[in-house]
Amino acid sequence: MSTTAAHERGSDREMLDIRPLAGALGAELWAAGGGPLDVTTLDAAGAAAIREALCAHHVVVIREQQMDAADVACFGRRFGELERHPYLGGTSEEPEVVPVIKEPHETVNFGGGWHSEMSFLECPPMATALYAVEVPSFGGDTLFANQQAAYTGLSDTMKRFAEGLSAVHSAARQYGRRGDSDRYAGQRSSMKVQVSDEAHAQLKHPVVRTHPETGAKALYVNRAFTETISGMHRHESKALLEMLWSHAVGEQFTCRVRWEPGTLTMWDNRSVQHYALNDYHGQRRHMLRVTIAGDRPR
Ligand code: SIN
Repeated sequence: MSTTAAHERGSDREMLDIRPLAGALGAELWAAGGGPLDVTTLDAAGAAAIREALCAHHVVVIREQQMDAADVACFGRRFGELERHPYLGGTSEEPEVVPVIKEPHETVNFGGGWHSEMSFLECPPMATALYAVEVPSFGGDTLFANQQAAYTGLSDTMKRFAEGLSAVHSAARQYGRRGDSDRYAGQRSSMKVQVSDEAHAQLKHPVVRTHPETGAKALYVNRAFTETISGMHRHESKALLEMLWSHAVGEQFTCRVRWEPGTLTMWDNRSVQHYALNDYHGQRRHMLRVTIAGDRPR
C-alpha cells in the first residue's frame, strides 16, 4: 500500500511516497514517483517532511543511501542538536556518531532487549538515526513497538491510574558496575563501552508521557532502564511494571525493520521502544548511530 504526502516550500511542491510497514507503526519513505531519496542533499523543506512523517509513523526507513559517519551526523543535525553518548565512544572524526558493531566471534549484541533510548537521562534523545554499513545475510532485524498505541490499548481505569504515576530510571543494569556491559566486556570488544559509577544515578519520569509535537500520550516504561514505580511497595511496583512492560511490546503494537546495506532508519524515542535482534551469530553487522537531543518527558 502506498500513500502520498505533499508539502509546500515557497512555490515548490515536493512529495514523499510513504509506504506503511505495518498497521501499528513504521513507514518507508521514497521520493515521489518511487525512486530513492537522497538525504545527503536534504533541504529544510525535505527535513520538515521527514519530521512530519516521523511524528505520524514513529519509525521511518529510507533505503538505498550512501553515507559515511559525517553524512550520518549531518543528517541528524537537520533535526536538532546531536548528543554524545555518556557511556559509548564515537568515531574519531565524529564523536557523536557511535559505531554499533557485532563481529562474527561475538555473542552479545548492543540493544538486544526492549528499551526506550537512554530513558536514564533527564532529557532523553527525541530521535535516533541508524545507518546500515554492513548487515548479515539473514537476521539482525530491529523491532519497534508503538507506545502511543500501547497506551491507547490500556483500559480507561488503567490509563487514569498510570497517568498519575512516575517511575525511577537508571543506566545501572547496562552501564553500571556488574551491569551487562561490565559482565560482557569481552563479548563486545568492537565497541568502546565505558562502565561507570555515574550509571547508578536515578531519576524520575512520568509513566505516561505526552508527545511535545503532537500531544499524543504514550507509555514510558521499559525493561532495560526502568527500575521501580515511585511511591509503591517493591512487590506492587514489580507486578505493575511486569504487566506494563509486557503489554507495551505486544505483537499488535510492533513493526520490524529488515536492514539492507545503505538503509537509514530514524525513530521517535518519544513514542517507541526498540529491540535489536541477536540472531545472526558468525556474521558481522556494522551500523552508525546518532541521537538527537530531546526534551524532559512530561
Ligand atoms: C540501538 O539499540 O540503538 C541499536 C539498534 C540496532 O542495532 O538495531
